[in-house]
Amino acid sequence: MELQHAVRRRRMVRNFDPRPVPAEVVDRVLASALRAPSAGFAQGYAFVVLQGPAETGPFWELTTTPEWRARRPHRAGVQAAPVLVLPLAHEQAYLDRYSEPDKAGLGMDEAEGWPVPYWLVDTAFATLLMLLTAVDEGVGALFFGIFRGERELLDHLGVPSPYRPIGAVALGYPAEPDPLSLSLSRGRRGMEDAVHRGRW
Ligand SMILES: Cc1cc2nc3c(=O)[nH]c(=O)nc-3n(C[C@H](O)[C@H](O)[C@H](O)COP(=O)(O)O)c2cc1C
Repeated sequence: MELQHAVRRRRMVRNFDPRPVPAEVVDRVLASALRAPSAGFAQGYAFVVLQGPAETGPFWELTTTPEWRARRPHRAGVQAAPVLVLPLAHEQAYLDRYSEPDKAGLGMDEAEGWPVPYWLVDTAFATLLMLLTAVDEGVGALFFGIFRGERELLDHLGVPSPYRPIGAVALGYPAEPDPLSLSLSRGRRGMEDAVHRGRW
């Protein structure tokens, strides 16, 4: 698929068919994440993949409450996703990398010295590559936030303590109906609005 086509076709899917996604498709999505650029090639990201209800069920149990689930119209469709990927960022890996001789002296051996937290930037870049590869593979995807239960989830999954998820990616074949994101009614900003050439 042409990249432009994948970029334009990408959308968040919130109603998944529970049928499994072939392992090789999941692998290609993950392989794309590992092609992401990273500051100092620190590659301070990792991914936990949960497949099937036995693995995805505890994710939902730990990160949502019954009240929250009752209030979300898309909950059942999203929870049907057969695959969840947790993109994890490792801040200390970046502080360590920028303590190495070729980076030392930049003041980036401590978090306060960074112009922006590149551990989050890099993990987000990797995540977007997964979203685009999902389109290329004919699979639906949703990136969403984890608003509660992060510590319990990470403990449950045995994730080493320096790693923190930037959110989660649900993967699976789209089911019907799957209305577009309600937020899209805000309208997409155009070039004339968002792009400033030469100066603001
Ligand atoms: C950082 C980030 C966080 C998001 N969090 C959620 C979320 O928690 N739940 C959700 O349903 N969608 C979430 N979205 C999806 C956005 O609502 C969606 O990308 C936006 O409305 C545009 O729709 P589209 O991606 O389908 O084009 C998130 C997107 C981003 C980039």
